[in-house]
Amino acid sequence: MPNIAIIGGQWGDEGKGKIVDLITPAFEIVARFNGGHNAGHTVIRAGTKLVLHLIPSGILHDGVLCVLGHGLVIDPAALDAESREVEALGFDVAANLVISDRAHVLLPHHRALDLMSEERKGSARLGTTGRGIGPCYEDKAARRGMRISDVLLRDRIDAKLAALREHFEALCRGHGVSSDIDWSKTADDLEGFGARIAPRVRDIAALLHRQMTDGYAVLFEGAQATLLDLDHGTYPFVTSSSAGVGGVVTGLGVPPSKIDGVLGIVKAYTTRVGTGPLPTELKDEAGEGLRERGGEYGATTGRPRRCGWFDAVVARYSARLNGFEGIALTKLDVLDTLEEIPICVGYRYRNTRLDDIPADVTIYEECKPIYENMKGWKTPTSHAREWRELPQEARDYIRKIGDLVGVEVPLVSIGPDRDESVIDESTRTAGWLRR
Ligand code: IMP
Repeated sequence: MPNIAIIGGQWGDEGKGKIVDLITPAFEIVARFNGGHNAGHTVIRAGTKLVLHLIPSGILHDGVLCVLGHGLVIDPAALDAESREVEALGFDVAANLVISDRAHVLLPHHRALDLMSEERKGSARLGTTGRGIGPCYEDKAARRGMRISDVLLRDRIDAKLAALREHFEALCRGHGVSSDIDWSKTADDLEGFGARIAPRVRDIAALLHRQMTDGYAVLFEGAQATLLDLDHGTYPFVTSSSAGVGGVVTGLGVPPSKIDGVLGIVKAYTTRVGTGPLPTELKDEAGEGLRERGGEYGATTGRPRRCGWFDAVVARYSARLNGFEGIALTKLDVLDTLEEIPICVGYRYRNTRLDDIPADVTIYEECKPIYENMKGWKTPTSHAREWRELPQEARDYIRKIGDLVGVEVPLVSIGPDRDESVIDESTRTAGWLRR
């Protein structure tokens, strides 16, 4: 079985959690490479809804090893709480989750900084999840950050916290705000956390190398998505990590030659939370309809997601950048009631046509979508289990998206349950999805 990377092709919330959960039986290891508890992967199991923020959904499969790579920022309290939740459902987190010794630790002052920064920006705020993700990556880039290997030693915790505190308090003074971080409690909490996770801390790059050499297949799981990638997304309205396929290499220490294939996850329409350009956004009842039928409210913050039609420029950009060989198209059933379904095939910027995403976000904000209309199928699809059970118009819509993006569509999701999925067995990449 090849090693496959799963990458979000839009602005996140494409339904990666469900797809990872669905195809995990084809892999021995699920390794997450970026982000923190800003992610929210919703998985429905036997009618029970579970939202995972840090732990890969592979944890819900016996015998699958889950890995948190060094590209992550890990909030100890969030990891502890989530571990307890998953364990309460009967899954063995202690036995099946390992953590990179090089991952960074997200601390209470990161959260305070995130909120301060958003408040200061006012209407120019990014709409972050407020979890401290950006400031933690800032400390990492500034080479002040605390890593998982540091929390294993009390004197290292104290030394790192002292430096971080000095920097944080200087910032607070500069902005004329007071800080109420309890640093000595933070140090004690970190010591306890370090003791709890010590048996599960590993050199992840070495571990993955050994496992792949022994023939075990790895699913590389990305959080967030390509248009939120720090380098390739709609900067500055992005997250602070490498959410595209490059993150596999940097965030897990896996060489590119070990990535055998890349599967893009793309929603049948487009959503975004937070601020930043979204050319196909619908601010009318059509957008409201997508939001209500699709349950488009943030899994992490509960914020209503901004909704719009499928944007082929975005999906094509992601496919090129990540080398998608197939895309899993999710939430097709949300379109079941529509008479007509527009697809954005390009943009109009003033008097010019654009077929790619401009670097300048102010230009992107001004881009207007050029639509082609597809006929709706106006019939429920969630019961379909075979490709031929999908209505002809739905298959036309899927084919059109595949053609515009330039990749095949091996899987379509038509509901939140694992069963509510259809695989196109005639595609080459369908072979990636089943053992
Ligand atoms: P941050 O990652 O909390 O710094 O937020 C930066 C931007 O990324 C904001 O627009 C967030 O709404 C967005 N974002 C972060 N994580 C996710 C996610 O898992 N899904 C969708 N958007 C996200």
